[in-house]
Amino acid sequence: MPVPYRLTVLGTGYLGATHAACMAELGFEVLGLDVDAGKIERLMRGELPIHEPGLEELLRRNLASGRLRFTTSYQEAAEFGDVHFVCVGTPQKKGEYAADVSYLDAVVDSLAPYLDRECLVVGKSTVPVGTAERLAEKLVRLAPAGSQVELAWNPEFLREGFAVQDTLKPDRIVLGVTSERAEKVLRDVYAPLGDIPMVVTDYPTAELVKSAANAFLATKISFINAMAEVCEASHADVKQLSLALSFDERIGGKFLNPGLGFGGGCLPKDIRAFMARAGELGADQALTFLREVDAINMRRRARMVDLARGLVGGSFHGCTVGVLGAAFKPNSDDIRDSPALDVAVTISQSGGRVTVYDPVALDNARRAHPSLGYADSVTGAVSGADVVLLLTEWQEFVLLDPEELGQAVRTRNIVDGRNALDAETWRAAGWNYRALGRP
Ligand code: UDX
Repeated sequence: MPVPYRLTVLGTGYLGATHAACMAELGFEVLGLDVDAGKIERLMRGELPIHEPGLEELLRRNLASGRLRFTTSYQEAAEFGDVHFVCVGTPQKKGEYAADVSYLDAVVDSLAPYLDRECLVVGKSTVPVGTAERLAEKLVRLAPAGSQVELAWNPEFLREGFAVQDTLKPDRIVLGVTSERAEKVLRDVYAPLGDIPMVVTDYPTAELVKSAANAFLATKISFINAMAEVCEASHADVKQLSLALSFDERIGGKFLNPGLGFGGGCLPKDIRAFMARAGELGADQALTFLREVDAINMRRRARMVDLARGLVGGSFHGCTVGVLGAAFKPNSDDIRDSPALDVAVTISQSGGRVTVYDPVALDNARRAHPSLGYADSVTGAVSGADVVLLLTEWQEFVLLDPEELGQAVRTRNIVDGRNALDAETWRAAGWNYRALGRP
């Protein structure tokens, strides 16, 4: 393969757009591809379809330098690229736990017929274990260059809100390869990142690392939320409990924040897909605990609704509810499986008049849930409210002045769904402050 390698990135969603811009930033010539012509047009104009700190700047800089280009043509991608990164989504199938890998198959089916010379195809998507081996066989079968086309699996661990940082300075790089040649190509590609811990392994281990990492993170969050349930039953304080646990270095304080639990496009669907795949492999018993992890997570949303209902006298009918937050977490406009919107919708369906504000996710929320009320400011959302719910811990909300907010509401009731506010300060300002897992 000619050095320096020319890279393509197939799929320009969250992962692909970030990977393409970051690889161009490292000095590679990169061609991004998507089947969505509208998305490609926007990207070519330097417009990012998602909110991700620092990414639009990177996109524009590398478009201007000419290192980064976009296309909708698989033929062009095949002719251009030496290394093809596959970055399409693997969403949850409708009505099932399993992941839908049809976008991956579509990429291979569309690209392979044009692969007429030596190249490497690199899967980055989160997949059920066993997918890489199947796709590798398919590639060799469909590509005119046959076994000169190799596959590697290289899972991505980036977090939304920190996507650029996580791509340019990852904690580790995992390579699932079947040849020294593939390993060498990927070591060359990632060399500009510097000295990053690298684990070189086989396909199934590489695929599983990603599922295991997300399962662990989800479990850690649900563990502390299970402790919150016990705290609620025993009048203990889960925030202090979490703090005390965090000093034990074996436990650590990260991902130990009790609250409304996890959402987003990854953790919920990935633990479900992991359970489904283990079932297919006859190893379902190994992951039955993930069912409980999922259940604990969903119970936090129900508890949040109950706390709010309790504060307004037992029924939402005729009540005004101000909701702060729509994104599944701060610094993101992503509302996929957002705990905040789930709570807002439940309360609205129970008769409450709900008004939602979020600094960046309002447009997405409006499109997905047109029946909810929306406001363009905190004050607009809480105006005349009987209860205020903090559901996504944006810094803007953490810094709110309780006295000022108190002027806008009808009754000073607040439920802190993310344990993000200082209880004493809010109580001192006359608020009836409630939080998940705290007395
Ligand atoms: C996650 C993984 O972190 C990442 O490695 C993987 O590649 C994709 O999935 P992301 O979905 O961007 O990333 O969000 P993350 O920061 O992990 O947060 C997930 C959810 O957990 C959010 O809803 C967040 O609010 C919640 N969370 C996180 C908690 O409830 N408590 C915590 O202590 C941490």
